[in-house]
Order: sequence, then C-alpha cells, then structure tokens
Amino acid sequence: MKKNNVVLIGFMGTGKSTVGKQLALKLGWEFIDTDQEIEHREKMSIPEIFSKNGENYFRKVETEIIQKVMSNEKQVIATGGGSVLRLENRSKMLSHGTVIQLEADTENIIKRVEGEKQRPLLQGNLREKVYEMKDQRKYVYDFADFVIDTNVMKVDSIAEQIYNLM
Ligand code: S3P
Repeated sequence: MKKNNVVLIGFMGTGKSTVGKQLALKLGWEFIDTDQEIEHREKMSIPEIFSKNGENYFRKVETEIIQKVMSNEKQVIATGGGSVLRLENRSKMLSHGTVIQLEADTENIIKRVEGEKQRPLLQGNLREKVYEMKDQRKYVYDFADFVIDTNVMKVDSIAEQIYNLM
C-alpha cells in the first residue's frame, strides 16, 4: 500500500465499517469510524446532531475529525458517505492514505439500510431517497485509488481483496 492509512469511502450501506473492522484486524492497524468519532466528540448520536444543529454543523465537525485523524498512521478509516462532498476532505484522504471506494447496486443498498434509524438523510421514503442521493452522488467517489464491488462478495473476501492490494 503506497501510504500509511486505508480510507474506505462509499455510499451509505456499502459496508465501510464492517469491512474496515475486518481489514484492520488483518493488518494489525487501528480501526477508526469517523461517525463514531463525531458522536464521541459531540456526545450525541448522529440523528441528534442533525436534528439539533443541522447538516451544515455536522459537515463542519465531520471535516474537523477527518482532517485530524488523517494525520495519524497505520489506521483503517471508515468514513461517512457524505464526507467526500468537501474538496478539502478528498485532498486530505488522497494525500494521507490509499483511498478505496466500496460500491454496491442501489437495490442492494436499499436492502442493507432498510428499517434502520441511524441515518437521518434516509428517513421518510427510503427507496426514493436512496435513488435520488445515489444519483446526486454519482461522481463524488470517483477520486478513489481503487474501487471494490461489494454486491456479491462476503466481508472476509472483500477485506482479503483490499489486503492483497498491498
Ligand atoms: C451520511 C452517511 C452516514 C453519516 C450521516 C450522513 C451521508 O455514514 O455520516 O448519516 O451523508 O451519506 P455512513 O455512510 O456510514 O452510513
């Protein structure tokens, strides 16, 4: 791997946290989930942050966390699906890590995130929202060094595939 972090990016429900934990174990590196870091810092859940302070505030904290964690090394970092919307985050990820996009078809994403309450942007008509946001974010993950399809593979083999890129 060319740099000393692995950064997992991708739409909600593509398996960034699940795969990230497994990969960190394999590498013997630290696992960081930026959503968890945000919750820890704010002492609130993601839905609470969105409802109390709004999305802009969430993005501000998210950016601060990303800028901070990226300066450490030997970490597998699972990022929030919208963290790549800011250019400064994309630049930091690329300069301090190998960026891997996890990809999945819209129908698979819908199955994976169905019924969940932790993602404020998907509350309401989930199917409509996933289709709409996936379309809006069609190109935002394109800066990744590698893309991994997570539609059919199991967590173990996805982690193995990333491990083998080293
Ligand atoms: C978001 C994705 C979520 C979380 C927040 C916003 C997004 O993370 O950061 O709900 O804008 O795509 P996951 O991608 O881990 O679900």
